Amino acid sequence: MTTAIIGTGGIGSVIARQLASGGETLRLSSADIESARTLAAEIGRAAVVAVDNRDALQGADAVVLALRFAVLKGVIDEIADPLTGKLVVVPSNPLASDAQGNVSRLLPKGQSSGEVVAGWLPAGARLAMAFGTLSADLFESSSNRSPEPAVLFYVTGDDRAGEEVERLIRTAGFEPARAGGIEQSGRLEVGGDLHDLVVGPAEARSLI
Ligand SMILES: NC(=O)c1ccc[n+]([C@@H]2O[C@H](COP(=O)([O-])OP(=O)(O)OC[C@H]3O[C@@H](n4cnc5c(N)ncnc54)[C@H](OP(=O)(O)O)[C@@H]3O)[C@@H](O)[C@H]2O)c1
Repeated sequence: MTTAIIGTGGIGSVIARQLASGGETLRLSSADIESARTLAAEIGRAAVVAVDNRDALQGADAVVLALRFAVLKGVIDEIADPLTGKLVVVPSNPLASDAQGNVSRLLPKGQSSGEVVAGWLPAGARLAMAFGTLSADLFESSSNRSPEPAVLFYVTGDDRAGEEVERLIRTAGFEPARAGGIEQSGRLEVGGDLHDLVVGPAEARSLI
């Protein structure tokens, strides 16, 4: 299967490496095409560099928008039509940091990032908030854990999106665990009770 990854920065590059090592074919794009080229060269034959964000979606079954929250809406608007019928995976936390490194939440307290992103998507796109619960380092070091796999939590309101994102999570070397519908995305974010948590399936079930 083929997945587009838009954004080849800190988390996008790690997601790409793990998916490719699990056998996924990738189409990569980023604001800086050199960053996508460097990653594709590192991954090898499983990854191709797209001309732009829309081109990344050509022939892709799913797309991961590995972007900072502040640029998400602009990119969704740019690629809106081809998103119809696709699984859209969003790992973004609704955060911004200033020049001094101070981090602030971009949404009012209590507003779920997943519901905001769902409102930006065209009808027919199937959203799952996933792949953003662990820092890039923790994601890489926890994948393909043995003997007990580590869990990646996700949320979606769409059963088909759930099946598709579970396949991607397994391909990346984790066991999937659904923490509810899109309105539960706050649990996955920085500050949420399921964020940065490396647990096995039994503990994940008890937490959900
Ligand atoms: N890094 C982590 O450990 C981590 C973990 C969990 C969740 N997350 C979440 O994941 C999101 C991304 O974080 P990150 O750390 O990966 O950020 P990042 O390192 O800044 O990467 C973002 C990527 O998006 C690209 N980009 C920016 N505008 C674009 C556009 N219009 N079209 C295509 N690509 C564009 C950037 O390209 P340029 O470099 O050329 O600008 C960069 O490659 C954030 O919301 C963050 O909260 C991050």
